[in-house]
Amino acid sequence: MAKPFRCLTVFGTRPEAIKMAPLVLELRACSELETLVCVTAQHREMLDQVLELFGIVPDFDLDVMQHGQTLTGITTRALAGLDNVLAQVCPDLVFVHGDTTTTFVGALAAFYRQIPVGHVEAGLRSGRKYAPYPEELNRKLTGVLTDLHFAPTASARRNLLAENVTPAGIFVTGNTVIDALRYTVRENYRFTREELNSLPVEKRLVVVEVHRRENLGEPLEAICRALRRLVLEHTDIFMVFPVHKNPAVREPIIRHLRGLERVLLLEPLDVNDFHNLMHKATLLLTDSGGIQEEAPSLGRPVVVLREVTERPEAVEAGTVAIAGVQEEGIVTLVTRLLRDAMLYKRMAAAVNPYGDGQASARILAAVRWHFGLCRERPEDFAAARQSG
Ligand code: UD1
Ligand code: UDP
Repeated sequence: MAKPFRCLTVFGTRPEAIKMAPLVLELRACSELETLVCVTAQHREMLDQVLELFGIVPDFDLDVMQHGQTLTGITTRALAGLDNVLAQVCPDLVFVHGDTTTTFVGALAAFYRQIPVGHVEAGLRSGRKYAPYPEELNRKLTGVLTDLHFAPTASARRNLLAENVTPAGIFVTGNTVIDALRYTVRENYRFTREELNSLPVEKRLVVVEVHRRENLGEPLEAICRALRRLVLEHTDIFMVFPVHKNPAVREPIIRHLRGLERVLLLEPLDVNDFHNLMHKATLLLTDSGGIQEEAPSLGRPVVVLREVTERPEAVEAGTVAIAGVQEEGIVTLVTRLLRDAMLYKRMAAAVNPYGDGQASARILAAVRWHFGLCRERPEDFAAARQSG
């Protein structure tokens, strides 16, 4: 029998896939909704790793990725492809996630066909047009096109209210990335990447991931110089660095860090390996957004290699610290954390400002309410501090 409502989820990069996968599984389990998946494949290998792990076979694959792709190139290829898909599928609701080019284009394509948009991870703001670039504007533009805003936290909700979004359209759900951790993190996990099963146990594990466009050029050079100094100065650390596929990111990292003792440069890890590596780490150094949300719930301190963050909750909770992108500032902060046991212990307290693992269930409840399939509007997620 045909299901009464049809949803189309649209995503294209690694983080969107990780954060949409639990929602796709939740929506698919609902007997009243038909759920289709369209990937733009703005990322290829890094997207496919996630799809395979969660057993998701897309109904549509636009395969837009090109090496050295420009923002305009992704935008035009994805917009044309998505319009065809929307014409074929005629969904009742289109889900997009976060702040990538795929996110904005997915919302725009749906708007052009007057189809309602649900924005997962809505309301994050740095307040700076070019930090992060182009994500801050992607999420603002997506917000304007959105009907159902799934804000991960109360602070994201406040950002939306400050932009005059109708309160009835905002649902505080927690972040679906915390749902994803429930699928991946295991005690006694055995890594698929064999080298990770024999890391030196006597060393402190420092995991690094950097890739942001606004860090390309001098900021990334400075980050690499700082990492090199840290590894040479602290002989008790072992650095594992899965390097993003972007060639503009890879070149300086390889130039500064390849061949150093106690540094393991790897291809991007599948999300099972990466989450379990984070779980084993002493410290995470990153400009990634998702990692800032996952690590606090695993009780792992994060040093953010950016000037600002749109994720203030974990900074307020004390588990995330912003180092900036100057060599000296990064070395100073990381050195303090490695030497000051009290400071480290304070930062390593597990907190869950970003979710309780039920975000996808709340989003489904909100969608059912929106379609008139239930009478009760779901309750908002409220973060509680946990000791760990
Ligand atoms: C994109 C998002 C960014 C997100 C990041 C997550 C935009 C503008 N940027 O940035 O918000 O934080 O993904 O990782 O939407 N590449 C591959 N294989 C892959 C993936 C990428 O070879 O599986 C290479 C390609 O050469 C590609 C380049 O990386 O041209 C850049 O990819 P792109 O999606 O444009 O930018 P990211 O920096 O990955
Ligand atoms: N991640 C992964 N493999 C890696 C590095 C990161 O699976 O080698 C995961 C990480 O756990 C997080 C997500 O990728 O869930 C973050 O994606 P990314 O850093 O590419 O983008 P951002 O979150 O900054 O948009």
